[in-house]
Amino acid sequence: MEKLTHKKILLGITAGIAAYKCPELVRQLVKAGTEVKIVMNQSAAQFVTPLSLQALSGQPVYTHLFSSNEHAMEHIDLARWADLILVAPATANFLAQHAHGLADDLLTTLCLAANGKLLFAPSMNQQMWKNAATQGNVSLLKTRGIQFAGPAEGEQACGETGPGRMLEPAELIQACEQMFTSGQLEGKTVLITAGPTQEAIDPARFISNKSSGKMGYALAEAAKSAGAKVILISGPVSLAPLTDVTTIQVDTAANMHHAVMKHVAITDIFISAAAVADYRPTTPAREKIKKSTSLINIEMTKTKDILQDVAARLNRPFCVGFAAETENLEQNALEKLRTKAVDMIAANWVGEVAQTQNTGFDSDNNSIHVFTTENNTLLRKTSKTKIAQQLIELITEKYYEKNPA
Ligand SMILES: Cc1cc2nc3c(=O)[nH]c(=O)nc-3n(C[C@H](O)[C@H](O)[C@H](O)COP(=O)(O)O)c2cc1C
Repeated sequence: MEKLTHKKILLGITAGIAAYKCPELVRQLVKAGTEVKIVMNQSAAQFVTPLSLQALSGQPVYTHLFSSNEHAMEHIDLARWADLILVAPATANFLAQHAHGLADDLLTTLCLAANGKLLFAPSMNQQMWKNAATQGNVSLLKTRGIQFAGPAEGEQACGETGPGRMLEPAELIQACEQMFTSGQLEGKTVLITAGPTQEAIDPARFISNKSSGKMGYALAEAAKSAGAKVILISGPVSLAPLTDVTTIQVDTAANMHHAVMKHVAITDIFISAAAVADYRPTTPAREKIKKSTSLINIEMTKTKDILQDVAARLNRPFCVGFAAETENLEQNALEKLRTKAVDMIAANWVGEVAQTQNTGFDSDNNSIHVFTTENNTLLRKTSKTKIAQQLIELITEKYYEKNPA
């Protein structure tokens, strides 16, 4: 929470049903030590009263572009005052307006006049969110560097279910905090591996594992948000490609090893989040194996250990490994930390334990125990996106402890 102390946040409220969450959001922002000014358009005042927001923020609430206030150029003053402009809820109409440079009220005008950080929290009916026009506007805004918090998926006020719910106030507070941690890895290169590898048995078959790549991709996104140049070496996954992340697609453990070694010399932080095969069939069959004998043996050879090889280099980067465990999580993680001589191990449960908690492989959630030689930290169950942000924060902290800026 300290990250928001004394920060100036301008909260823009547009006419979405989720505006009812704004008084609680304002209360939590004020509690976090933030100075909050609120600008709402006149339609938004149908959903939440300026009076309650004024009482909670302790500041006048701005509603008009042409007001009788002492400052004629209020839209410019407010835009310059804010360390962060958070628009929550951001309606489909507001996103369309800002994507196309429209400025017909105080909020849209000051957003256009802003030269700092903008964070939009969309909130709308799921079909409005999925509409190609809205998606096009969101893509356009993202290419201009505007950050988005949410939307979440679930039951909607209109009775439908799907993506479009505004994040809860506590989640929006976290998203605001994230806006003030970004930039900490400016000028640093972070190399991340993600996903499974595939080891050929014959031309038609391979041995692989259940890794979805979601954690590695979330880490790449979080490292990018923290200002790093990110190189992602990805095994075969079915995730959308990331923008502004150099992505190298590989299939086998050997190819992943090769790609990592090619880039490691320019790397400040290496995060090994991929589930790399420990063994591969020694000699994949040249032709498809026929179903004949009742038993076949496939001889397996140990693959090269990517993390260990990176950690063993002279002038090695800060090294973070992942440990996916089905038993003895702490003991195995500490063993890995010691034998591979890395800086940090992020350990998570997979298998039955993870399934009962809806975490681990292919889940959108995770819970991670982070071990270093000095201490361990539990990152409690939340979305992989948030776990990734928290882990990048921890890595950043430890990286600078070891390499003072
Ligand atoms: C009861 C009600 C709830 C609404 N909720 C939403 C919403 O959650 N998100 C949205 O994009 N539009 C919503 N709308 C439509 C907007 O209010 C409408 O598009 C309006 O023009 C948006 O204005 P603004 O973007 O200037 O605030 C709602 C309308 C009504 C009548």
